[in-house]
Amino acid sequence: MALRSLRGKAFADTVREHVDLPLHVLVRAVRSDDLPKLEWFGSLAHWRDVNRRTFNDHQAGLRLMFVADVQNFPVGQVVIDVTSHEYSYLYALRVMEPFRGLGIGTELIKTGEHVARSHGFRQIQLAVEKSNTAARKLYERIGFEIFTQRVDVWSYIDHLGQTHWVHEDVYGMRKLIHA
Ligand SMILES: CC(C)(COP(=O)(O)OP(=O)(O)OC[C@H]1O[C@@H](n2cnc3c(N)ncnc32)[C@H](O)[C@@H]1OP(=O)(O)O)[C@@H](O)C(=O)NCCC(=O)NCCS
Repeated sequence: MALRSLRGKAFADTVREHVDLPLHVLVRAVRSDDLPKLEWFGSLAHWRDVNRRTFNDHQAGLRLMFVADVQNFPVGQVVIDVTSHEYSYLYALRVMEPFRGLGIGTELIKTGEHVARSHGFRQIQLAVEKSNTAARKLYERIGFEIFTQRVDVWSYIDHLGQTHWVHEDVYGMRKLIHA
């Protein structure tokens, strides 16, 4: 038989414990065991094939993928393409929602810059959707500036084998990086 405890419920509603706990974040290269975790409990399952291809390219040194690791779980990711001769290209930056606003995105971008610099690039580029004001502000704070606008069209195959076409109205942004 279930016991009702309205007094207990009233007490429970008063409980508030604020605790500041240290959050240790390790930005490191992606590993194969990250791939299932990068689906973030199914919410990003549609990127399964994309992540697998990116991982393969990472192994080959073409596109390099980094994750923000909290207790062995990738709560953020970024990819840096180092195949172009003129500039490196940063994309697929994302941080799990409960971990946003803590500086993790900034650290991932800095890692991308560091990697680009170490490959001898003098410029890093990215694209941000025109409607994504928050991300654009973050990039501008870090020193990126808009240099073009365009519509990016690309496709991907989801975890169910379906092809999706994406049309994105974006700003192209760039930052000069120094040795
Ligand atoms: C864009 C995104 C990656 C940013 O990640 P993030 O970890 O929240 O980024 P940061 O914490 O470094 O910076 C975000 C904001 O938090 C603020 N911030 C940084 N460190 C902070 C801290 N210690 N305490 C409080 N706020 C902080 C920053 O000032 C920044 O604000 P600003 O952009 O107005 O300058 C994240 O919001 C995301 O995944 N969005 C969805 C996917 C997406 O849009 N990706 C970009 C595609 S182009």
